[in-house]
Amino acid sequence: MIIRPARSLRGKIRLPGDKSISHRAAMLAAAANSETRIENFGSSADCASTVSCLQALGVEINRSGSTLTVKGLGKTGFRKAAEPLDCGNSGTTMRLLSGFLAGQRFESVLTGDESLMKRPMRRIADPLEQMGCSVGLEDGHPPVMISGRNPLKAIHYRLPVASAQIKSCVLLAGLNADGTTSVIEPTPTRDHTERMLRWFGVEVKEENTDVGKRISVSGSSRLDARDLVVPSDISAAAFFLVAAACIPNSEIEIENVGLNPSRTAIIDVLRNLEAHIQVLDSIETSNEPVGTLRVRGGKGTRSNRNSNLISGATIANLIDEIPILAVFGTQVPGGLEIRDAAELRHKETDRIAAVAENLRRMGVSVEEFPDGLRIDESRLHGATIDSFGDHRIAMAFAVAGLLADGETEIVGAESAAVSFPEFFEVLAAAVSG
Ligand code: S3P
Repeated sequence: MIIRPARSLRGKIRLPGDKSISHRAAMLAAAANSETRIENFGSSADCASTVSCLQALGVEINRSGSTLTVKGLGKTGFRKAAEPLDCGNSGTTMRLLSGFLAGQRFESVLTGDESLMKRPMRRIADPLEQMGCSVGLEDGHPPVMISGRNPLKAIHYRLPVASAQIKSCVLLAGLNADGTTSVIEPTPTRDHTERMLRWFGVEVKEENTDVGKRISVSGSSRLDARDLVVPSDISAAAFFLVAAACIPNSEIEIENVGLNPSRTAIIDVLRNLEAHIQVLDSIETSNEPVGTLRVRGGKGTRSNRNSNLISGATIANLIDEIPILAVFGTQVPGGLEIRDAAELRHKETDRIAAVAENLRRMGVSVEEFPDGLRIDESRLHGATIDSFGDHRIAMAFAVAGLLADGETEIVGAESAAVSFPEFFEVLAAAVSG
């Protein structure tokens, strides 16, 4: 994909359904007692992996455009899959589904593509083994081989890493346990699982303790099918927020964006760094806040002098936006430092190394740390960029290409389809709009 400098981004932009929420919607609907209609289901390849794994487990799912109809089998009604379950590139599919499969009385094997086969799974095997099922891994990595049992043992688990995927895996396993299962999260992470469980009628208790929030579910819960609408993906919006904010004559509006407070740090951080972003309205749809974002190019006023350092608890809230935030950092007076983000090394690729490498190719001076990066304010020069097969690297550097002098070539641009298959079309329409 070749990207040329853009003079402005304009118009109304429609984005796919949120990837995190879509995974949860399909899985919980599959474990509910009857039929659920899901509107604006994510178009991503990752969400398609969740759908095909559920189908392989005997769930009837029909798709018409972005609407999915799922015939729930109840929380113990899945059937043993004939083949290993292929989670593609999707860590969320593998980790969340493992939680459900732990409580089914059969064996399952979960595999994935080359990138997923290198990602850490001990983090889900540990709590699931404590719950009494056996989990086989190869040197801490997939394939994940689960011998399920029912009921599982209820546990109280303190998350060793800030991860919504581990939290969700344990809570979903807890639905098939012999009592109340709880998870303590020292740092808040996205709470879509908790919200979606409540939407399906499950009681989810939350309480603040000295060591973090305790979230509990009962093994006697049942899920009641209930139609829902998925908001558009704020992580997909982030690429457009940055592009429009950095290109002076831009003005775009993005409707129906998910504005869950556990995902909106990117908006606060960009605003603190002088981006003009307005939230026009905010309503609740299927237990998730949703609103319209309007972005204008050019600089506003800086409200926080310390905003050149992004670290601490904020990181979990914008973990997927860090590649595009790093690109934004090149346009910030004084540059940007990102720390406490070592988890980025365990994503679809090592995102700290991939961002540093590609920014350097574009002429930026970057210091790499074990847990982050320091990026100097710089003019970007067109270069050949490697996506390293990672969707968010491909899209972040497509935006960098719009801001650069000369032409930028993105090698492996097709990986954008993992979360946002329409990305380059939507971007091209906004650039000429
Ligand atoms: C996700 C949680 C995050 C995020 C991923 C989606 C989810 O991962 O990076 O893209 O849907 O729960 P971790 O929970 O591993 O941090």
